[in-house]
Amino acid sequence: MVLLLCWDPLPAAEAVSGNQDLITDILLRLPVKSLLRFKCVSKQWLSLISDPQFSRLHCSLASAGIILCQTTGLIDHISCGRRNSEPPFTSLSFINDSAGTKILQSCNGLLLCCSSFKLGKSCSYYICNPSTRQYLMLPPPNAEGYDGITTSFGVHLAFDPSKSSHYQVICVRSCSTSSAASNSYQIETSSAASNSYQIETYSSETRNWRLSGSPFSAPFDMVFDNGVLWNGTIHWISPTGASLCFNIDQEHLGAMPSLPSNEKWSKRRLRYFRESGGHLHLIEIYGSSTTQFQVFEMEKDYSRWIPKYQVDLSAIVDAFPEMVRSYIDTHESRFYVFSLLFVQEDEEDSLLLLHIPGKFISYNLRDRTFKEICDFGPNCTKANTSLQIGCVHVYQFIDTLAGV
Ligand SMILES: *[C@@H]1O[C@H](CO)[C@@H](O)[C@H](O)[C@H]1NC(C)=O
Ligand SMILES: *[C@@H]1O[C@H](CO)[C@@H](O)[C@H](O)[C@H]1NC(C)=O
Ligand SMILES: *[C@@H]1O[C@H](CO)[C@@H](O)[C@H](O)[C@H]1NC(C)=O
Ligand SMILES: *[C@@H]1O[C@H](CO)[C@@H](O)[C@H](O)[C@H]1NC(C)=O
Repeated sequence: MVLLLCWDPLPAAEAVSGNQDLITDILLRLPVKSLLRFKCVSKQWLSLISDPQFSRLHCSLASAGIILCQTTGLIDHISCGRRNSEPPFTSLSFINDSAGTKILQSCNGLLLCCSSFKLGKSCSYYICNPSTRQYLMLPPPNAEGYDGITTSFGVHLAFDPSKSSHYQVICVRSCSTSSAASNSYQIETSSAASNSYQIETYSSETRNWRLSGSPFSAPFDMVFDNGVLWNGTIHWISPTGASLCFNIDQEHLGAMPSLPSNEKWSKRRLRYFRESGGHLHLIEIYGSSTTQFQVFEMEKDYSRWIPKYQVDLSAIVDAFPEMVRSYIDTHESRFYVFSLLFVQEDEEDSLLLLHIPGKFISYNLRDRTFKEICDFGPNCTKANTSLQIGCVHVYQFIDTLAGV
């Protein structure tokens, strides 16, 4: 904490404290936790730190980290950057919900959370900033023009502080079939598309929900609670390979270029679909006894999926034989226990974060080296760690002053 020197009665320190630009420059490099404390130092610091412009600059300098969430609620943090390796938060208990809450999505430092399941209690949605421990409970969507009970199939947070200090929440919900019939949007697919949906958008600027676009139909197996925001558009894919996307500004619904073809297999095996550093990634793994697969990336001009990286995990399997399992009935057949947590892509790195029994592995997609990043701790035995594979979720995180 270089800043503490400011209280020394030295001429240099006085020069620093009198120099607004220099102070700003130093404060911009501190974690939010410290900034919240330093608001009490003086009126000048309070107004400086509260300035939206300062908040924007602070966010643009913030280095990204990753939040690890287990189903047990334990939250860990891996810093991927230069600033602040201390976890920005370790629990969401500051949200006052009797059922407890879980993270659904993370977007540039703000989290979309919902109440954990509790019998007899309806689910509430929250937007929160865990760095400032500020949160807001979203009002339920208006469900305008529909008197029945609506179900929400997916909720998505969109926040881009480089464009606006306001965020939006996009909700895909059910709607009455009669209003959908007249102007349905149909995606070409072999599956029946009979469900009717309506998108509603909440804006933090108006503090209200409103209808976005017309009711539409979508393939029955579309996974609306697994949307991926990329370039101002939310993308959804289905296990059978259909896709749908929604441009938030234009309120326009469309389809994505077809998923990479897989002639040899009758069923798709989607394992990963996320965004990182402005790149949209997709991974499918065919066959359980393989350590090889490709990481696809959407072309910048949105024209097609390109095979970006060829992955081979065999060296990891050699180093950690606990990944190998056999089917009980056929001794010949082996399979590998791992889950794909996150593809992290920026100018410096292209990493694949893996969860294998009892360990997290960081695999370098460029030079194919790997390293263990942390242990689960002494209480995890081989007998039960495989159960936890798939129960760990990863969210990108930026320490930000952004308000909810
Ligand atoms: C938490 O919520 C309950 C019920 O809504 C309310 O009675 C209580 O005052 C709240 N507690 C705090 C600390 O806000
Ligand atoms: C990104 O969004 C902008 C604005 O909607 C659009 O003009 C551009 O074509 C999009 N780029 C891609 C790769 O989709
Ligand atoms: C391991 O389990 C013991 C007993 O349940 C508990 O006291 C201890 O805190 C645990 N250690 C860790 C690292 O979770
Ligand atoms: C795994 O097993 C150990 C030892 O039996 C136990 O202490 C621990 O709680 C188990 N962990 C889970 C997540 O079940």
